[in-house]
Amino acid sequence: MTYDFARDGVFIAGRWRPSGSGDTLPIEDPSSGETLGELAAASAADVDEAVAAARAASEGDWGAMPAFERGRILSRIGQAVLAEMDALAALEATDVGKPLSQARNDVVALARYLEFYGGAADKLHGETIPFQAGYTVYTLREPHGVTGHIIPWNYPMQIIGRSVVAALATGNAAVLKPAEQASLTALSFARIAAEAGLPAGALNVVPGTGAVAGAILAAHPGVDHISFTGSTAVGQAIQAAAARNAVPVTLELGGKSPQLVFDDADLDKALPFLVNAGIQNAGQTCSAGSRILVQRGVYDQVVERMAARYGDLRAGPAMADLEVGPLISAKQRVMVESYLELGRRELTVAGEGKIAAEAPAGGHYVAPTLFADVRGDHALAQEEIFGPAQVVIPFDDDAQAVAIANGTPYGLVAGIWTADGGRQMRLAKRLRAGQVFINNYGAAGGVELPFGGVGRSGHGREKGFEALYAFTTLKTVAAHHG
Ligand code: NAI
Ligand code: MG
Repeated sequence: MTYDFARDGVFIAGRWRPSGSGDTLPIEDPSSGETLGELAAASAADVDEAVAAARAASEGDWGAMPAFERGRILSRIGQAVLAEMDALAALEATDVGKPLSQARNDVVALARYLEFYGGAADKLHGETIPFQAGYTVYTLREPHGVTGHIIPWNYPMQIIGRSVVAALATGNAAVLKPAEQASLTALSFARIAAEAGLPAGALNVVPGTGAVAGAILAAHPGVDHISFTGSTAVGQAIQAAAARNAVPVTLELGGKSPQLVFDDADLDKALPFLVNAGIQNAGQTCSAGSRILVQRGVYDQVVERMAARYGDLRAGPAMADLEVGPLISAKQRVMVESYLELGRRELTVAGEGKIAAEAPAGGHYVAPTLFADVRGDHALAQEEIFGPAQVVIPFDDDAQAVAIANGTPYGLVAGIWTADGGRQMRLAKRLRAGQVFINNYGAAGGVELPFGGVGRSGHGREKGFEALYAFTTLKTVAAHHG
């Protein structure tokens, strides 16, 4: 690892400098618990300055740039990101504790967002509307102006891709507040983007705490749109802050997403997805498939086969690239362990992985755990655990499966495993979710596919073309010419 952890600061108007207050945050490697360096923690004045820099860019050269040129710059950043694949993946693996090959996937996804939105930048257009004689009416899609992006630590690069990149593609200037626990690839992205020709002020990065940098950005009267990914509680606070300025928010919150396995499912195909959806990124995934609902006819078989897979799972340091890495922090480990303890007391442990021998004692590891015979209303079937744990819940028929699947306050994604085409279509309509997967789970993260939740999972859509609509506002022009 050659990264100079103390190198960056805040990135405002194309310049790096220390935080105005001199405050810092520790950079922690969750695989070892070691402190690797210090991160600048932006002050309120830094956030003000970042918002002003974004405003100047949005009203200046960046805002005036033809869409195809914006797109060309984003495409170039995509190439530069791929060229730094190894370094970015190692940095993310170190900072997040994410197994190296999963970190590489995130780099690829970021590059795909840059390609997709780079290519889409000049393909977003308004409409003409037939109206009364003597009028010509048309719509213009215009950027909001300054967009604020408050992102979490679990998938920094992917979330930068679906949020910041889509905002830039539509001509907004962005202020990005990465998470305390994982800001390094956000800072690297700012450097790479600037080197690839993104004009000063188009992207500003203010690492720092949620309480200072995050809260001030969310409430800032100079911000025209807020995009937030993280916990439901903070999302609600951000929506309240944005309400005081009457600006739109996109909230990508958590989930308790179900996978429904029917008697006629192709289990050989389903099995790897069923487990992987729960352990990817150590279960710290908003769209984790953490509830496995299984029809009685295959219930024992599914539990047995999932349990066997769990028996092979190892949690170890990110760079060892095992199936599971550490959790992001000691705090998250305590929280996840408390769920696992509750489960061990009240539920059946069907399968359990191991913490690998090479896992350093200071790392934030938990053993991946599968619970079976769980009722849909148990806390472990209702609350987001955000760790490598899944519950298996039996059901009898379609109606019961849908009732259990829809029986949480969340609604992010859902998976259906069945060979019955009619059931696929019926259930896809009845499941309360922003994305439904039929005989797959996650669609390989496709950047083209609109994503977002209902209920406590949030609202608004990112990814795909929908993000371009979300990051623009529609103006109707009615000309009376007689
Ligand atoms: P969090 O919601 O506190 O953090 C997410 C981001 O919000 C970070 O950048 C943080 O600095 C910022 N933030 C925190 N408080 C803020 C405030 N008052 N105003 C503005 N910004 C603020 O999430 P945390 O504490 O890291 O994780 C707690 C739980 O949240 C997890 O166990 C998980 O259940 C959920 N979560 C869900 C995520 C998702 O992908 N949907 C991502 C991260 C966490
Ligand atoms: Mg870290």
